[in-house]
Amino acid sequence: MLAIIGGSGLTQLANLDVSHREVLRTPYGEPSGALTFGRVRGHPVAFLARHGYGHVIPPHAVNYRANIWALAKRGAEAIVSVASVGGIRPDLKPGDLLIPHQIIDYTWGRKSTYHEGQDGAVVHIDFTEPYDPSLRARLAEAAKAAGVALGDAAVYAVTQGPRLETSAEIDRLERDGADVVGMTGMPEAALARELGVPYAAVNVVANYAAGRAGSRGGIRVEAIGAVLAESMGRVRAIIENLAQSLVDHGDTART
Ligand code: HPA
Repeated sequence: MLAIIGGSGLTQLANLDVSHREVLRTPYGEPSGALTFGRVRGHPVAFLARHGYGHVIPPHAVNYRANIWALAKRGAEAIVSVASVGGIRPDLKPGDLLIPHQIIDYTWGRKSTYHEGQDGAVVHIDFTEPYDPSLRARLAEAAKAAGVALGDAAVYAVTQGPRLETSAEIDRLERDGADVVGMTGMPEAALARELGVPYAAVNVVANYAAGRAGSRGGIRVEAIGAVLAESMGRVRAIIENLAQSLVDHGDTART
């Protein structure tokens, strides 16, 4: 089963042939909402809206541990995260899609591990490559099959939010080597790694980052919704082709 976590602008999957919804409880509390199960091109898919179905949970308050736990528990064999970002790298513009390959984590105070030392075991995961390389490759192929341009690398800086950054903060992130900035990539990616579920992301550039290009005079927050609405059709096309490729490769049809 393929799991999709939808961020801002993707609170449901229009191409998901829904079979049922489930409210799950986990040892870490409740996920952002019910999990929606169904099929895309015949392949089993679970969908979860990261910010809740009414988009009411801000990035720092998302229960990432419950979300990833619930998806893993229900049999997710791969998790694709869809997340909007601000574009820092000069060639990026609103509406561009990317598969990030690296993360720099600037978040704080989030519950970011399942291993809190309570059972006496200290666990360090390898996180050199935070995203699963073969899932990234599959996403790239799916985008190609869909005829959708998808940037194949980006360093994703994860900030705490919910406020957007200052222009000096964006300058600093750029000096650090970041190409895009968002608020939800961590601890999600690390938690998926802790549970051994392959995880990759599709970033949607929603705006120029603070102080850059069209955002020089401030970020027009009210314009972001339209960019995301326009972009999600392409994201859905990628997901459809990914599901198709999983069917073609004879990957499990378990729900
Ligand atoms: N900064 C942080 N997160 C974001 C942005 C941004 O400019 N745009 C969309 N998510």
